[in-house]
Amino acid sequence: MSKIPRHVTIIMDGNGRWARKKGLDRLYGHKEGVESVRAVTEFAAEQGIGFLSLFAFSEENWNRPNYEIMGLMELMIDAIAAETPTLMKNNVRFRVVGNLSKLSDTLKAKIGQTEKLSEQNNGLNLIVFLSYSGKWDLLQATGKYAHEVLKAKENNTSAPELTPDYFDTLLSTSGIPDPDLLIRTSGEQRISNYLLWQTAYTEFYFTDVLWPDFRKNDFQKALDHFSERERRFGKTGDQINNLN
Ligand code: IPE
Ligand code: IPE
Ligand code: MG
Repeated sequence: MSKIPRHVTIIMDGNGRWARKKGLDRLYGHKEGVESVRAVTEFAAEQGIGFLSLFAFSEENWNRPNYEIMGLMELMIDAIAAETPTLMKNNVRFRVVGNLSKLSDTLKAKIGQTEKLSEQNNGLNLIVFLSYSGKWDLLQATGKYAHEVLKAKENNTSAPELTPDYFDTLLSTSGIPDPDLLIRTSGEQRISNYLLWQTAYTEFYFTDVLWPDFRKNDFQKALDHFSERERRFGKTGDQINNLN
């Protein structure tokens, strides 16, 4: 029987190289990447995956040329507007996670609208990481805890005990289960400051396929690999298989 991961996250990489190979501007790669997003969202819903999250733009990506940043932001505004009716039709709950203070008012408004509209949907959870970095997330969570400690001191009470479960609630991903499977396209095998805390026990799958070429069959291959993995969480293989 194949094991279906509860949460799959994807580092969507290789748009620029895809475009360059075709002699096109990098923005064409990003544009074609939206087709892949549509395909994986549909596939995740069909497979009964609970959470699909996509790394769309990192904090470090703000250091790209202004032209590319502007193009990407415009593309996101257009894509959210164009895809919202389909998300609603398919009962998908849409959320964006990241340092949103850096986004334009127009984009923030679009995100807010679709988040609100899809809030009650109880099918696939689609999470887009935008202006996100793992270190930013850990720092903002630490800041929140520092605040809790100060508040407790003022009130002569004690701050909540700092456990992994409690720290989870301070992260921007609070309420979202940790990814079971992380897919990265384009042949790169690094985390690029993505989910640092949340991937502690995630299975990794790397493929050379460039993101704009990634389709349902590629996603299926990743799921097949995941299905064959034995997740041990520090225990022995025998313990996992109840032989011990
Ligand atoms: C991923 O593709 C999209 C973003 C990071 C925004 P890239 O734009 O990184 O494409 P490559 O890695 O340069 O080919
Ligand atoms: C990671 O891709 C970020 C996203 C896919 C959004 P990058 O292309 O920015 O990563 P590096 O710079 O190659 O590590
Ligand atoms: Mg890249």
